[in-house]
Amino acid sequence: MNTILEILAQELSNAFEQAGYDKKYAKVTVSNRPDLCQFQCNGALAAAKEYHKAPVMMAGEVVEKLAESATFSEVTAQAPGFINMTVSPAFLGDYMNQIAASGSFGCDTSKKEKTIIIDYGGANVAKPLHVGHLRPAIIGESIKRIARYLGYHVIGDVHLGDWGLQIGLIITELKHRSPELVYFDESYTGEYPKEPPFTIADLEEIYPYASKYSKEHEEYKEEAQEATAQLQAGYRGYLAIWQHIIDVSVADLKRVYDKLNVEFDLWKKESDAQPYIPDMVQKMKDDGYAHIDEGALVVDVKEETDTKEIPPCMILKSNGATLYNTTDLATIVERRKLFDPQKIIYVVDKRQALYFEQVFRCARKTKIIGEDVDLIFVGNGTMNGQDGKPFKTRDGGVLRLEALLADVVKEVSDKMADRDMTEEDKKDAADKVALAAIKYGDLSNQAAKDYIFDMERFTSFEGNTGPYILYTIVRIKSLMNKVAAQNITVSEEAVILPPENKSQTDVMLSLAKWSETVEAAYVEQAPHKICQFVYELSDAFNKFYHDNKIVTNEDEKVRASYILLSRLVGQALETGIDLLGLKAPEKM
Ligand code: ARG
Repeated sequence: MNTILEILAQELSNAFEQAGYDKKYAKVTVSNRPDLCQFQCNGALAAAKEYHKAPVMMAGEVVEKLAESATFSEVTAQAPGFINMTVSPAFLGDYMNQIAASGSFGCDTSKKEKTIIIDYGGANVAKPLHVGHLRPAIIGESIKRIARYLGYHVIGDVHLGDWGLQIGLIITELKHRSPELVYFDESYTGEYPKEPPFTIADLEEIYPYASKYSKEHEEYKEEAQEATAQLQAGYRGYLAIWQHIIDVSVADLKRVYDKLNVEFDLWKKESDAQPYIPDMVQKMKDDGYAHIDEGALVVDVKEETDTKEIPPCMILKSNGATLYNTTDLATIVERRKLFDPQKIIYVVDKRQALYFEQVFRCARKTKIIGEDVDLIFVGNGTMNGQDGKPFKTRDGGVLRLEALLADVVKEVSDKMADRDMTEEDKKDAADKVALAAIKYGDLSNQAAKDYIFDMERFTSFEGNTGPYILYTIVRIKSLMNKVAAQNITVSEEAVILPPENKSQTDVMLSLAKWSETVEAAYVEQAPHKICQFVYELSDAFNKFYHDNKIVTNEDEKVRASYILLSRLVGQALETGIDLLGLKAPEKM
């Protein structure tokens, strides 16, 4: 079905043509002066150049052609050439019944051919998730859900960092602490133990220790680099340790991502791309794209139009070692082979923007990927503390994601302590509200912007917050429960009636924006647009709820209409928060 803007644009197209003007000028947008009108068309201003006429005159001629239209209750031409439109209650009511019947609020969610891979999360094995991993996880998750809702074939991949120095550091520290372990016995040829020689708690202590120690002791660092090289060369004892690290880490990562309601379709790892490297490098050499520069193999990626220096993309170090770049390029080769995507979206800290620019250019230049595949970098800003610096623990350390989550759950639980609810319901509600506080607080900001984590504001039940949206959904659920409890039936023939007042009109106009909102959120990789939608709709609904008698309305048809409208709002809000990766509790 057509969106409301499409329907209006169609009406305007006809009117432009009837008035003797090109219909290309008939573009309709939501009004930026809602006090004057609901929709506007600025086409007459643009048409002035072509027709050498005063825009306001042309606007007037177009408006005349719309005088009989049942779509509008008011259309006027305004100086210097705007066409201001307000739709008729009958049209709006009818449109609501259509979107209710469509099952997807008028949005085209039909299956699409395109395959999209979303690389997000950014987790590394052996390192616990910290607040720096929060944004790429929740933004990526939302982008994935939005695209999937629209019918695209979407594959979310965590692309685990498992092939770098962190593994060498753990191996080295393990060797120092327990040299007797069989993994370090080079003459050993038997099977290695199934049980890992460490727990996740051990790993979480070992890695930071080894990382710090290596920064202060050069020979230790060299040992770790050597261990990394041996692992990458396939020494089986180290491969066995690496496998243990993956098993222990992945189980823990899944547990934490699960708490965040973030789920990946693929748990591919950097190491999975390694087999693709030799052929890829050979081809880059054969095709003459790669050359030796100071011993290293590089591909130049600068372009004439560059305004800033874009350094070459390094493929192999002078000692032959591969790099983060090499792995990312090989991952593109691997993804093409396994999934043939038409789009790959990377949601990663924006400080990696230059890096991805190099990788994308190199992939295009060396023809690893064709022009028909979009490579998109969505760089996220940082979540900062009240001091405007990256969020830290009280003693200045890196805050673990689980600790942040626990803090917010505690805050929300305190706020809900006096609720008349079972302990179980309270816990469920606190978990969901806390997640909404964190994720909505994050997603309501543009992905690329930094923001300040504000516990007080994010957990507030009022204002533009996650808890406020959930509260509105819970209010609608309890309204529906009341309807059921009082045996109020809404007959099969019942429809949403034309709006009779501003609060009803506003709810309907908000709902009518769903389709455009989701499309824009998809095209621009912008979950904050979904946040704006759910906030505006929640606000409109709460005003409607205050201003109109719903369950107690004496007029049966009106009551049914309000119930249907409320139900539609509830469904739209629940769909909206699902795209944000949130769930609403039954009570709160
Ligand atoms: N693990 C990386 C990091 O911690 C982020 C991975 C982002 N994705 C990618 N394909 N490079 O920085």
